[in-house]
Amino acid sequence: MKNSNPVPVRIAVLVSGGGTNLQALLDAEKSGVLHSGHISLVVSSSSKAYALERAALSGVPAVTLSRKVLGGQAAFEDALEQTLKKYRIGLIVLAGFMNILSAEFTKRHDHGIINIHPSLIPSFCGEGFYGLHVHEAALRRGVKVTGATVHFVNEIPDGGEIIMQKAVPIMPRDTPETLQKRVMRRAEWIILPRSAEHVCEQMLEAKNKKARKSGGKA
Ligand code: GRF
Repeated sequence: MKNSNPVPVRIAVLVSGGGTNLQALLDAEKSGVLHSGHISLVVSSSSKAYALERAALSGVPAVTLSRKVLGGQAAFEDALEQTLKKYRIGLIVLAGFMNILSAEFTKRHDHGIINIHPSLIPSFCGEGFYGLHVHEAALRRGVKVTGATVHFVNEIPDGGEIIMQKAVPIMPRDTPETLQKRVMRRAEWIILPRSAEHVCEQMLEAKNKKARKSGGKA
């Protein structure tokens, strides 16, 4: 029998800046768009990120883990692992998170990390394509359509399996800034919560299936 009221997957959202994508996730949980997952933790790479304010306003626990303060990538990832364990996290969402995670880390969390990228992968992605640089490159190339992509994170930057994409038109007078805003509003804030719901739903289904197979009641 299908479990009608499963325990939601505990989500950690990793951020570095303004946190508008975090806000979209928080709003989606409030409205019920996100119901198979629960935002249980925010991890910021900077103590100055406005995303921390958003977490506080929503009553979500938040911690700052700075690679610089902790003394490098290995120490940062150790601290991150411990924090994720402490909060019993099942899904990691990268939402404007500016640190690249090591291959060891991503392998340990295979299909357990998703990221939002502000272009239609495989265009304008990979190393060096972050923030406004992505939109500058799209305008320079003269493409007429861009968008956003949510994908699983593996050891290749922006190279993991694609979960969802949404296209956004480029207008003749666009600047990198106007384009960035349109891509966020019309694509990122919509597909990130939907993808988080989709992945959490699949995780819960897989868990139920496993429980049924082993004879336990799901
Ligand atoms: C977004 O454009 C995201 O795609 C990119 O960084 C930006 C983060 O914005 N990776 P915010 O912190 O969610 O407002």
